[in-house]
Amino acid sequence: MEQADTRGSFSGKMGFIMAAAGSAVGLGNLWRFPYLAEQYGGGIFLLTYVVLVIIFGIMLMITELAIGRRTGKSCIDAFIEMSSKYKVIGWLAALVPIIIVPYYCVVGGWVTKYFVNYAFDSGVDLAVPGFFDDFKAASLPGIFDSPVTWFLIFAFLTVAVVVFGVEKGIEKISKILMPALFVLLIGLCVYMLTLDGFVDGVADYIVPDLGEFSMNTVLGALGQLFYSLSLAMGIMITYGSYMKKNVDIEKAALSISLTDMMVAFFCGFLIVPAIAVFSTQAISSGPGLMFETMPLVFDSMSGQGVIVGAAFFLLAMFAAWTSSISLTETVVSLFKDHLKWKRTLACLVAAVLIVGVGMLSCLGYGPLAGITILDKEFLDFFDFITNSVLMPIVAMATCFVVGHVVTTKFVEEEVEISSKFRSKKLYGVMIQWVCPVLIFIILVMGLLDGFGIYSI
Ligand code: PFF
Repeated sequence: MEQADTRGSFSGKMGFIMAAAGSAVGLGNLWRFPYLAEQYGGGIFLLTYVVLVIIFGIMLMITELAIGRRTGKSCIDAFIEMSSKYKVIGWLAALVPIIIVPYYCVVGGWVTKYFVNYAFDSGVDLAVPGFFDDFKAASLPGIFDSPVTWFLIFAFLTVAVVVFGVEKGIEKISKILMPALFVLLIGLCVYMLTLDGFVDGVADYIVPDLGEFSMNTVLGALGQLFYSLSLAMGIMITYGSYMKKNVDIEKAALSISLTDMMVAFFCGFLIVPAIAVFSTQAISSGPGLMFETMPLVFDSMSGQGVIVGAAFFLLAMFAAWTSSISLTETVVSLFKDHLKWKRTLACLVAAVLIVGVGMLSCLGYGPLAGITILDKEFLDFFDFITNSVLMPIVAMATCFVVGHVVTTKFVEEEVEISSKFRSKKLYGVMIQWVCPVLIFIILVMGLLDGFGIYSI
């Protein structure tokens, strides 16, 4: 286990990239990206997404990694060091993983349950209409049909890795889970290609329909890349603080973003045509897609459906696991840096927090369904407040502090320690002006959507 008095670090470039890509590749790739791609014109959405990740996402990723590596601290102390006047931004960023990780573990628990059912049972129950609603409402009898059991198992799996520290826990597991995830994803895509009618569905997914391009395509892609790249929640600052000084930050940001984008692309490749071919249901976003539509798809595949279902949910479980590890590590590093706690104590408190707050989300569709905030159940409320409110505010404020308070030199100098900063000129303009404006638009759109005033 990591020494209490050391911060720990990733052993090298590969370990760092695997862990950071593991954070980025998460449920967002599986249940959000395919839906958006289908909604916003297939190929044209993909194209827009690629362009925006390259000109926008990577800039923000470089910023967060450089802040982390330069200060050697997690987000609260990093902002205090940058400008104590704006330390509130660090606190807001810290709130994001604290709010997200409990509900992420609830969803991770649902995924684990579905994997176990396919792997060790026939999985047929999962495709019965109403199963998912009953399961998440905790109204099924039996301990292994309770979402609480699976939530606790998933939370335990997450904290059990984080307690071993950066190199021995997070890096080690990411180096196993990420390659396994790639193999599963490629295997599933190849298998799907052998099915009748699948290729026609792929064409619909890939071929751009220029007529479907609109402002909404851009907004949808922007919102997604934020979420998907794990930005504005202190994660990349924390992971950057564990990065060695000889790692090329610009290249690392590019590798992480490209990996995340490729995985998202192949998840869509797998899901969008499969739903078109095997299901009569329209594609939906979020839990409905993974826990209702996909089981119907596997059910209609006859014999092999169980194996494909098990592989699919194992892939989802690995993706969720590495992401929840990164969210938890961010919380633990905040406790370690700011409160000077040892890792074990920090992990223990994080576990109590995850279980306590997560229980609200876990029971929010059943016993606690009567309690809603802004007309949303706990899980949806936590998701809204972080993704639509806090994250855009944190990202905008980060651009402001880097662009106009400490100036972009703060980041540029750090990048240049290990390599030439190839996109330096573009970087300044983007962080000072373009990124904040785009993020402001996302914030307004997210709020309008959340309050039911206007939806893209
Ligand atoms: N980037 C990960 C995903 O796409 O699932 C992790 C994550 C992002 C978790 C945003 C939660 C969140 F709100």
